[in-house]
Amino acid sequence: MTQILTTRMEAHPSDSHTLGRYEDTGGYAVLRTALAGMQPDAIVAEVKASNLRGRGGANFPCGVKWGFLAPSRPRYLVINGDESEPGTFKDRQLLERDPHQLIEGIILSAYALGVHHAFIYIRGEYPRPARRVQRAVEEAYGAGYLGRDILGSGFDLEVTVHLGAGAYICGEETALLNSLEGRRGEPRIKPPFPAVEGLYAKPTIVNNVETISNIPWIVGNGGAAYDAIGPEGSRGTRMFSLSGHVNQPGNYEVVMGMTWRDFIYGYGGGIRHGNALKAWIPGGASAPWFVEEHLDTPLTIDDVAKNRSMLGSGAVVVMDETTCMVKAALRVVRFFAHESCGQCTPCREGATWLQQVLTRIEAGAGRDIDLDLLLDISDNISPGLAWPPAMTTICPLGPSAVSPITSIATYFKDEVAAHVHGGGCPLG
Ligand SMILES: Cc1cc2nc3c(=O)[nH]c(=O)nc-3n(C[C@H](O)[C@H](O)[C@H](O)COP(=O)(O)O)c2cc1C
Repeated sequence: MTQILTTRMEAHPSDSHTLGRYEDTGGYAVLRTALAGMQPDAIVAEVKASNLRGRGGANFPCGVKWGFLAPSRPRYLVINGDESEPGTFKDRQLLERDPHQLIEGIILSAYALGVHHAFIYIRGEYPRPARRVQRAVEEAYGAGYLGRDILGSGFDLEVTVHLGAGAYICGEETALLNSLEGRRGEPRIKPPFPAVEGLYAKPTIVNNVETISNIPWIVGNGGAAYDAIGPEGSRGTRMFSLSGHVNQPGNYEVVMGMTWRDFIYGYGGGIRHGNALKAWIPGGASAPWFVEEHLDTPLTIDDVAKNRSMLGSGAVVVMDETTCMVKAALRVVRFFAHESCGQCTPCREGATWLQQVLTRIEAGAGRDIDLDLLLDISDNISPGLAWPPAMTTICPLGPSAVSPITSIATYFKDEVAAHVHGGGCPLG
C-alpha cells in the first residue's frame, strides 16, 4: 500500500504531531537539503513535474497555479484549512496529527515562491487542530525552521495561524482572503485571481492543507516519482473521508484508480447491516450523486468528471436503502441555504426556495408540479443544469445547492412522486 501523508500517524499515533517525532522519522531533512542546494525554480519545476492537483476541491494543477504568481512583491502563501464541506475531515487529521509535515511543506513552498509571510487559515470549529498547529509553529520557530535566516540559508519566513469564525463560505479562496483581512467573508469577483491580486491586493497563492502536505515528499523524492504513482490526471495518493452507511468509515489515503466498488466494499467494508447501497456523494456535499451503475467507474478526478460529478474535497458519503432521498436532498440544500453569504440573489433566494419546496414535499404536502419547480429554480441558479455547472453567481456555492436536485430528478423521480401521491415518505 503506497502512503505518502499518513505513514507517521499510523506508526506513531500518540506523538506524531511533535517536533521530536517528526525529526526522528526524517522530518525537515528535505528542507535542510533543499535550502542548502536547490534553487527556488528547481522546486517549482519538481512540483510541476509531479502533476499534483489541488486537494481543496477544484483539483487545479498546483505547479500551474504557482506559475501564475505575478512578479510583484510582497507576495503571500495562504493555506486553506477551512475544511467546511460536509463529510470532509481529512485536513483535520493532517493538521492534528502531522502539523510539521504541513509546516515543512509551507517552508519549501514559500522558498520556491519567494514568499516571506505565510498564513494558515483554520476553521473556527477546529480548536484542537488549531492548538496543535500553533504549538508546532512555535516549535519550528524555536528550532530555527521559521523566522530569520532559516538554517543559515539567508531565507526568512514568518507563519501566522488564523482561526475562522465558522462560515462555510470562508473556504472559498477569495472569501477566505477577505476574512483574513478582517472583512466579511464574501467571495470576490474573479479575475483578478489571487495569484495576481490576493491578500492585501498582493500576489497570493492559496493552497489546501493536503496539497501542501505533499510537498516535502515531492521535493525529497522528485516530481517524476510522484508522477509515477496512480493514473494519468490523478497522480499521487489522495485522502478520502468516507462516512455514512458503511461498516468502516474513516480517512483513507489511497492511490486513485480503483473502482468505487473496491473503495466502498473494500476499504469501507461494505454497507451496514448487509443493506443495499442506494447512492453516494463522491466528492462532498457540492457534488452530484452516484448510484449503483457507477460502482465500476474508476475513482479518478477525470472519470468522475466524465460521469457529471466531481471528486471535489474527497468526501464520500454513502447512503443505504433506508435513506429517504427527499430528506437527504433537503438536508444538503438546507446547509447551502444556511451558508449562502447572501451576495448573489440566485444563490441567496434560490437555495432558500429549493429548501421550502423540498420541505413541503418531505412533509407530504407536495404537488405534482414541484419537481419541475425545483428544476426551474435550479436552472435560474445554474443555467442549463449542465456539468460542470454554468453560474449566475460569483462563486460556485449556489450551483452546489443544485446538485442534490438534479440527483433526485435523475435517479429518484419515482421516490419524489411517491412522496407527493402518498402524502409523505414511502419509507415511513
Ligand atoms: C463554497 C466553497 C467552499 C470551499 N471550501 C474549501 C475548503 O474548505 N478548503 C479548501 O481547501 N478549499 C475550499 N474551496 C476551494 C478553494 O476556493 C480553492 O480552490 C482551494 O483552496 C485551492 O487550493 P488547492 O488548489 O490546493 O486545492 C472551496 C470553494 C468553494 C466555492
